[in-house]
Amino acid sequence: MNVFIIAALSADGFIARETQEPSTRWTSKEDTRHFMERTKQAGVVIMGSKTFETFGAKPLPGRRSIIYSRSKKYGGAETTNEPPRELIERLKKEGVKEVAIAGGSSIYTLFAKAGVVNTLILTVEGVVFGDGLPLFDEKVFLAIELASHTQIGPNTLVLEYSVKN
Ligand SMILES: NC(=O)c1ccc[n+]([C@@H]2O[C@H](COP(=O)([O-])OP(=O)(O)OC[C@H]3O[C@@H](n4cnc5c(N)ncnc54)[C@H](OP(=O)(O)O)[C@@H]3O)[C@@H](O)[C@H]2O)c1
Repeated sequence: MNVFIIAALSADGFIARETQEPSTRWTSKEDTRHFMERTKQAGVVIMGSKTFETFGAKPLPGRRSIIYSRSKKYGGAETTNEPPRELIERLKKEGVKEVAIAGGSSIYTLFAKAGVVNTLILTVEGVVFGDGLPLFDEKVFLAIELASHTQIGPNTLVLEYSVKN
């Protein structure tokens, strides 16, 4: 199964200025379209409760939403607290072929540390924050190989990396 992290970054490597702010306040329309197309292609989107709440806790249309939370329940979305390996094994048995890990920092870190991520799809936007939430919020090591780089807008670059085993 392909498990990919999908994230938009400021040019200095942050995914958010503050926890409550939806990314669409600073990402480009080209990235919004790219996120929608790539996650619809995957069909399954996994994220943390804080990210889900930044866009009104509404499931993404046309995608199965799986939300990480230790206590919350949301209409129209599944919630889980399974360790990533268990969740990925369960989804594999259900026939899922591709899963998008859509953040935030805590969920990117949880999946990267579990060693289940095959691909990073990073959009670099034309903004600089100086401070904010990093892509990963703990020490993580992934050896990665640049698979493609695509300019999708005047100030927007998509970098796709394969994670080396
Ligand atoms: N730029 C981008 O591409 C991008 C993408 C995604 C998010 N973001 C930004 O990232 C920020 C949110 O990131 P975040 O790291 O603060 O929060 P988050 O990862 O979205 O959500 C954290 C929540 O996930 C749940 N969780 C975490 N680990 C868990 C575990 N092991 N088991 C069960 N539940 C677990 C907990 O929910 P409960 O508290 O409910 O138990 C925790 O409070 C927002 O500002 C958002 O806009 C940016």
